[in-house]
Amino acid sequence: MQASNQSPLSQDRVRDTSPEQSTASPLIRANGVGYTVEVAGKPLTILRGVDFSLKPAEVVAIVGPSGSGKTSLLMLLAGLERASAGRIEIGETDITGLNEDAMAVFRRQTLGIVFQSFHLIPSLSALDNVGLALEIARPDLSLAEVRKEAAEALDAVGLGKRLDHHPSALSGGEQQRVGLARALVTKPRLLLADEPTGNLDQKTGAIVVELMFNLARQNGTAIVMITHDPHLAERTDRTFTMEQGQLTETTGQKH
Ligand SMILES: Nc1ncnc2c1ncn2[C@@H]1O[C@H](COP(=O)(O)OP(=O)(O)OP(=O)(O)O)[C@@H](O)[C@H]1O
Ligand SMILES: [Mg+2]
Repeated sequence: MQASNQSPLSQDRVRDTSPEQSTASPLIRANGVGYTVEVAGKPLTILRGVDFSLKPAEVVAIVGPSGSGKTSLLMLLAGLERASAGRIEIGETDITGLNEDAMAVFRRQTLGIVFQSFHLIPSLSALDNVGLALEIARPDLSLAEVRKEAAEALDAVGLGKRLDHHPSALSGGEQQRVGLARALVTKPRLLLADEPTGNLDQKTGAIVVELMFNLARQNGTAIVMITHDPHLAERTDRTFTMEQGQLTETTGQKH
């Protein structure tokens, strides 16, 4: 890993402190977010009173012990689960007020999601896995445009020579990179990443992270990334720690 003062992200920090950025209205505004599920007939509180905001193009990490509620928060931000209390706004949209169909449309147009397991479609080539995401998000594009942009996204993650490979004919790190190309091909305003390098060896993980940060920076995409890697967390603009369902900002503190 590069020292943080040489990383591309340090440029992001400089940009973030410009007057223009600091007055920009938040991309995410989450207030008093609670998440309670029922297990064997009893309520189990997973998130309690989470407040969180993120500026456009900001890159933040969420760290914290296993079982503390990190993935649950990401699921709520992605609209894949519903908050039991509070309000989550992304851009101009109050996602806690959207029905499922509207949420699906919003998600496809606004979000990129990278989970630890890649969820690629096994019967489709790398090109078609990425192309499908773009086709759904941008029905206005022609098939030729979709294929061109999908190929460019795969080229950007170093897979220009693997377009026709199905997931089973790709290594784990290559599949992870297809997942990244798929998340970023739509140029989303927000990328939600849950331990994006969790399955990868250190070197491949570092490559995937560089790609993610660089592509996001080019597109002005904000990132919320869950990680267990303190070095990776240090390279982001801000760090938050989740503990027993409560989120606090811990930028600059040792974890
Ligand atoms: N749908 C659900 N029903 C019941 N319990 C759940 C549900 N989803 C999550 N939990 C519980 O909520 C807690 C938080 O889970 P979550 O997946 O958010 O943790 P995490 O911080 O992402 O942990 P890890 O670092 O291990 O991935 C865990 O104790 C988990 O068992
Ligand atoms: Mg998790």
